[in-house]
Amino acid sequence: MSDALPRVVRTIADVRSQVQVWRDAGLTVGLVPTMGALHHGHLSLVDTIGQKVDRVIVSIFVNPTQFGEGEDFDVYPRDEDADLAKLLGRPCHLVYAPSPSEMYPQGFVTSVRVIGISDDLEGTERPGHFNGVATVVAKLLHQTRPHKAIFGEKDYQQLVVIRQFVRDLDIPVDIMGGALIREDDGLAASSRNAYLTASGRQIASKLYKTLQAVRDDIKDGKPVRQAEAKGRTALISEGFTDVDYITLRDAATLKEVDDPAGTSPMRLLAVARIKDVRLLDNIPVEDIPL
Ligand code: PAJ
Repeated sequence: MSDALPRVVRTIADVRSQVQVWRDAGLTVGLVPTMGALHHGHLSLVDTIGQKVDRVIVSIFVNPTQFGEGEDFDVYPRDEDADLAKLLGRPCHLVYAPSPSEMYPQGFVTSVRVIGISDDLEGTERPGHFNGVATVVAKLLHQTRPHKAIFGEKDYQQLVVIRQFVRDLDIPVDIMGGALIREDDGLAASSRNAYLTASGRQIASKLYKTLQAVRDDIKDGKPVRQAEAKGRTALISEGFTDVDYITLRDAATLKEVDDPAGTSPMRLLAVARIKDVRLLDNIPVEDIPL
């Protein structure tokens, strides 16, 4: 725990030399990659990894390559001073906030693409998104050389994509999953919740409740496709303008689950829209006996 604002470094050279000093001293290092606009979901990741390592780096970088055309890159909330203040008193020992040109110097042309998983679900709605995520996370891992890095289960597919390329590319880091943190009414904490109007915010809280109802239907033996369709209809009648997907998946591979009995563990994932605002959520589905 520190009672001073964390030190901020902005170059690969500076973050590498600090990590080298820590490693030489035999200290373990953890990384929490973020795009800033920190909320209690991010902070819980900092606290969780802080219990496992000696030194924690929080990276703040609004990564242009994971935003599609017409998405919110330009208006994405950026307030570094507010972010640093939120880290006060948390186990954060360094903030790494590179500039876009430090991350993507002129001539940069490489992309990390996880075939298959990246093209489904969020990948269908946001083509190229996970290539941008995988590329920047691979770079952050090489730049900071942490022993552990943590990603939230809020972005469940992102966590699966990251685990896959870390394994495939032999990156020597332990990837931790952090619990999904919710507001009091059940809405998953997200920087993008700030885009909701007061009435949209009320509707938004129904997403979690609907996921729970679909899970209960599946556990009660309702056929999966029927339970998903009922959830979709419920969301529209609650006031969501569109449902991109609500789908039961194998938690490790994200493959569709037709018969939940004996498939374990599983995850029920959904994205619903209120006008322009896309809300992501997911919940675990426990073992269903054969
Ligand atoms: P960002 O949306 O800022 O999220 C940073 C991390 O916080 C991610 O691992 C995300 O899953 C986690 N997170 C967000 N909301 C959460 C919640 N309610 N509960 C638990 N964890 C939550 O995800 C990204 O940034 C980027 O794609 C990044 C990985 C930094 C690559 O650019």
